[in-house]
Amino acid sequence: MPESRCLQGIWSSPWIFIFAASGSAVGLGNIWKFPYVLGQNGGGAFLVVYCLCLLLVGLPVLMAEVALGRTVRSNPIDTVNDLSERRIIHPAWVCVPWLAGITGFLILAFYSVIAGWSLAYLNRALSGDLIGVSQASASAMFEGLLDNRTEMLMWHSVFMGLVVLTVGQSVTRGLSAVVRLLLPILVITLVAMALYSMVIGNMSEALSFMFRWSWKDVSFDVILAAVGMALFSLSVGMGAMFAYGAYMSKRMSIARACTIVVGVDLLVAILAGLVIFPLVFSLDIDVQAGPSLTFVSLPIIFGNLLGGQFFAGVFFALLVVAALTSAISMLELFVAWLHEKFYMARLKAALLMGIAVWFVGIAVLLSFHHEDSKILFDLNFFELLDQLTSFVLLPVGAILLSVLVAWFIPGSMLQNEMITKQASHFQWWYNTLKYISIPAMVVITLAGWIGV
Ligand code: PFF
Repeated sequence: MPESRCLQGIWSSPWIFIFAASGSAVGLGNIWKFPYVLGQNGGGAFLVVYCLCLLLVGLPVLMAEVALGRTVRSNPIDTVNDLSERRIIHPAWVCVPWLAGITGFLILAFYSVIAGWSLAYLNRALSGDLIGVSQASASAMFEGLLDNRTEMLMWHSVFMGLVVLTVGQSVTRGLSAVVRLLLPILVITLVAMALYSMVIGNMSEALSFMFRWSWKDVSFDVILAAVGMALFSLSVGMGAMFAYGAYMSKRMSIARACTIVVGVDLLVAILAGLVIFPLVFSLDIDVQAGPSLTFVSLPIIFGNLLGGQFFAGVFFALLVVAALTSAISMLELFVAWLHEKFYMARLKAALLMGIAVWFVGIAVLLSFHHEDSKILFDLNFFELLDQLTSFVLLPVGAILLSVLVAWFIPGSMLQNEMITKQASHFQWWYNTLKYISIPAMVVITLAGWIGV
């Protein structure tokens, strides 16, 4: 690969990759999406299946994506083109990075709207609107936001503006430093909030809901939801981790780095559940409420807390930054490609992509406005995008990427990348990917589709 096509910055410290990848993984998926998906899929059974999915599907596929990124050190599209020029793989495999990029693009369209909600709540927190919030006023506040298209549009635009400005700079600059600061504060804040929520809420019911296993709650639908959630939460199958792998120092063991990222991601998701469910059960909020769950229950914590306005401000600010460090990785694939292939300035490429995402985001935010805005399969545009990405594009993208890495890229090429001291570690990962992750993803996805 000619040097000019390589990415400019190689992250010198191994920890920089870990922080950047955790920044991509930890975001609204952990704090907004995980609790409501857990609520909709029966609690404890989902959590166990989810952990298995992280271990047997998420981690191996994440390692595959990072390894491929580091092998060629270019953006995903050019990497596949390069490998096909070298006759290592067929040119048709270029569909994989394109699919990944399109998935990231579509996810960002609704992600930005939800991040806009976080900005709206940050604004409410700072202006003192959350003081003394009760359950009824928290629900009314959320409904009010959904009814106010202009406000949603404004925050969606602000968030996309921030994404464009950040991606427009090189991601190697500053990202890891921000996450290094953000992650510990986020974890400490969530621990404190979880403890408080357990004191004022219904801890026993929350714990039994989240951690009690029940066979009758397991179905292929639940398993497919867990696979989709695991891939979404780890930012796998969208080229985001591929891009970060390309920046990763050669000194770092991919297995070690990826295991840490998965652990951090799971920790934050479980903490978010421990914050939300004690309240959900004590206030009789419907666990199946869906996307509103986090935004209706969180303000109640702050509303009743001494100094709640300050803590709410800190929390929603952290949430916005966490969303930002995830969102920038969704645009990275196309921006890096436009920059490296066509020498387009990063800011210009980010602006181009950002405007396109912004338009799709407008359709998403309009879909929250009307109860009757169903457009297909009895789903509104947001639900359609969410389900299309989680149940179709993410699993299909991850399956194709894994097949490409496991069966078509020469094992020797990958083995050099893995940097494990013991050859058995490489074989363990390679065989898990080939014989467990790929078959499991294929069976679960097909069974989920046909509704077994
Ligand atoms: N993993 C992010 C989260 O949990 O919020 C979401 C995400 C980031 C999805 C990056 C896709 C992606 F490319």
